[in-house]
Amino acid sequence: MARRSYAPSFVIEFLFSPVSEPDADDINDLMLVLHRENTGNFVPITTDYIDWVANEQRVLVARVTESQSKWHGRIVGMATLNSFPQLGAYRGNDEIQAIENDIAVIPALQGYGIGDALKVRLGEIAKEIGASSIFLTSHENRGVKPDNLYRKHGFVRKDTRIYVKNLV
Ligand SMILES: CC(C)(COP(=O)(O)OP(=O)(O)OC[C@H]1O[C@@H](n2cnc3c(N)ncnc32)[C@H](O)[C@@H]1OP(=O)(O)O)[C@@H](O)C(=O)NCCC(=O)NCCS
Repeated sequence: MARRSYAPSFVIEFLFSPVSEPDADDINDLMLVLHRENTGNFVPITTDYIDWVANEQRVLVARVTESQSKWHGRIVGMATLNSFPQLGAYRGNDEIQAIENDIAVIPALQGYGIGDALKVRLGEIAKEIGASSIFLTSHENRGVKPDNLYRKHGFVRKDTRIYVKNLV
């Protein structure tokens, strides 16, 4: 894929509690990116809820550091990583499985390598916590971008059936 010529500098960092209102607004913009390509009506997430998620799991964000950029200080990309020990994967060591979710970059800055940087950091963190594998799901209606991104970072698509039971 041909990269655009200019990318504002950014850092990948954890989102820590307490989450500020501007950061919560940016997270909501990213939720909208994920939601728009999915289904119906978008209900904004409250700052308290984002705060709770940031406490419960690893929320990675891409924050623009370039002072000249109109996005300076803003969160323009995100992804989350959960981990838990798995009985079924036990092979003599602690077997931790990591799960990635919610990767998104604002449309104006897609194609600048932010998704790549998030994926690299997610992979590093998964290794740091001793994960033996990383799991993610992606609906096919999300198109070629995430599919390419995941394959580029070494993910192999499985044929496993996914079962979901909605409780609410
Ligand atoms: C998927 C997404 C996170 C990628 O982020 P990004 O910052 O645009 O991606 P990057 O610029 O870092 O590109 C990384 C890789 O993604 C793939 N990719 C990105 N844009 C692409 C495009 N327009 N066409 C095909 N592949 C593309 C390529 O593999 C690319 O690597 P390459 O440049 O070496 O070819 C972003 O497109 C997005 O937010 N999409 C909407 C939300 C979404 O679908 N999330 C996935 C949920 S499962």
